[in-house]
Amino acid sequence: NWSMTSFIDKEIERIRATVGPTAQVVLMSMAIGDRFHAILVDNGVMRLNECKTVYERMHNKLGINLTLVDASKTFLDRLKDVSEPERKRKIIGNTFIDVFEAEAARIDKENEAKGLHKIEFLLQGTLYPDTHHNVGGLKEDMKLKVIEPLRELFKDEVRALGLLMGLDHDLVWRHPFPGPGLAIRILGDITEEKVRIVQQADHIYIEEIRKAGLYDKIAQAYAALLPFNSVGVMGDQRTYEKTICLRAVESTDFMTADWFMFPYDVLKRISNRIINEVRGVNRVMYDVSSKPPATIELE
Ligand code: XMP
Repeated sequence: NWSMTSFIDKEIERIRATVGPTAQVVLMSMAIGDRFHAILVDNGVMRLNECKTVYERMHNKLGINLTLVDASKTFLDRLKDVSEPERKRKIIGNTFIDVFEAEAARIDKENEAKGLHKIEFLLQGTLYPDTHHNVGGLKEDMKLKVIEPLRELFKDEVRALGLLMGLDHDLVWRHPFPGPGLAIRILGDITEEKVRIVQQADHIYIEEIRKAGLYDKIAQAYAALLPFNSVGVMGDQRTYEKTICLRAVESTDFMTADWFMFPYDVLKRISNRIINEVRGVNRVMYDVSSKPPATIELE
């Protein structure tokens, strides 16, 4: 792909010009060697088994110099009783930076003994459409300088880039997952119990989508937890439990999106499994709104 090859060259040139030759290979982390430290932060609002899967794939399979930092307790503490979506985003953005800075300090200390340079740059995977929701997401007084080599690209262009770099199909075609994670898919305040519910429901949903061979037809699918209980019945008992909202959209640029028309039998299987297998859920709804005017996320 001609335009992608020239993009890589152009970006390498741009990065070389702004940060010097040592950082020229940020686009291909494998080529950077031990000067590049990837940090995977468990923020407590990731999908079920997400950190474990990503670690195995990136570290064990691709050989990336990756550290997994479990900061879930810090994130969940700071998110306690917070319901307002933009506050959730801000708290999560700031906490990420705190974790990155602490991790950079730890690596600097290790490097000092070896006579190596201090960490100066934070590489972020911001894409063009993210530039709107990431505004104000990062702390103003950050010590690290942020570089965002992909910030002018759309998702489909980044995918072309990934394929060009030899990444495999599943990795390249994974549905996007927002930085604030499940925090913006749990409407209202966040508790560990709600995280468990939405993780389990989402896991079943995606598993059934894959089994039905529909994953690649859908641009993004997820389960969200609605902020109310409703009445149900189990045996001769009335229940008052949570509602899961399922969303799936078709889109190429994520700026507009159509809700996905599932075959009814697939929806039925998903709904049955979620209600039977996820404790605390008695109702499942499917979102039939397109973007615009609805957004892809609910918060
Ligand atoms: P919306 O909800 O605006 O989403 O239609 C468009 C795309 O952006 C993702 N999204 C986010 N990604 N931080 C992110 O990194 C955010 O705060 C955020 N909000 C939405 C969303 O998942 C979809 O792919």
